[in-house]
Amino acid sequence: MRQKESAELSIIRLLKEAGAGSVSGGDLSRMLGISRTAVWKHVKALRKAGYAITAKPAKGYSLERVSGSEPFNAIEITSGLKTAFIGKKIFFYPELDSTNSAAMRLGRDGVAEGSAIIADKQTAGKGRIGRKWESPPGVNLYTSIILRPDIAPYDAQKLTLVMAVAVACAIAECCSVRPAVKWPNDILIGAKKVAGILMEMDAEADHVNFIVAGVGLNINMPSADLPKPVRQIAVSLKEACGTEVSRVEAARMLYSNVEKWYNKFRKHGFAPILAQWKSFFAAEGKRVIVKGFNRTVDGICVGIDDSGALLVRTPSGKVERIISGDVDAGGGSA
Ligand code: BTN
Repeated sequence: MRQKESAELSIIRLLKEAGAGSVSGGDLSRMLGISRTAVWKHVKALRKAGYAITAKPAKGYSLERVSGSEPFNAIEITSGLKTAFIGKKIFFYPELDSTNSAAMRLGRDGVAEGSAIIADKQTAGKGRIGRKWESPPGVNLYTSIILRPDIAPYDAQKLTLVMAVAVACAIAECCSVRPAVKWPNDILIGAKKVAGILMEMDAEADHVNFIVAGVGLNINMPSADLPKPVRQIAVSLKEACGTEVSRVEAARMLYSNVEKWYNKFRKHGFAPILAQWKSFFAAEGKRVIVKGFNRTVDGICVGIDDSGALLVRTPSGKVERIISGDVDAGGGSA
């Protein structure tokens, strides 16, 4: 797969480095190894994408600061990102079927751990359990990160909780609200979903080759734009905190938190993740109805165990251990 914008992103990087100064078309053409006509075509495309680039005779191109709508692309995100490996390499697409599907393809091609795929719009965004993830352009974050942990497949579920903690912490940093986690990995504000996580894996029987951690975060999308059934149960950061939230900032905070909590998991194991996850968990002591692949369990949530499985006490008094499923709050918020 080809990254469409590389020449354009290089032009922006060079113009940013020039600050208030200019870079001539000839210099850009030499540095990028493309013709001056090609430089001009890329400048036109960048202007169309929202960059205010002026061309001054005898001086060259310069990038003006503009207030208002911010460009959303790999160069903007990576330029302020302080991670060692998560998001260091970003594959950015204006439109993709699904960032998770693209990440699975790239993972098999051997791209480095921490590489992230972002799409401004997804045409076939995937949710858990075969659901669709609504992915309109210009408003949200749809990203998938490739992780290559040295773990067995039966431990992969733990990474789901690592991601839930990272997403919840990123939201708390972006927006002055405290989110809640709904087991295993929905992120809620109030009782409404603000983010979803879809983990996919490429593995052998005893070894994980790589994991794709996909995150859909509703940022500035008006919930009214969603189809009716989803509208009632979704919320965006903008709706929750009352102001527009920068998608560039949100992506940086997400990648920083993924690196922080993933490193903690690799260095100190699952206990610190579990402790942090529990601090966001609101369903303990409440009634839950858990729909699994082949059974439904209705009872009181009594927490999660050391592997991240949900524990539910049924009316018979038996505590059921659930490793996968979908939780409905039976009256309280899950
Ligand atoms: C859920 O059902 O809650 C999980 C939703 C995950 C959506 C994200 S958007 C980015 C990535 N690409 C996908 O196709 N899905 C995930």
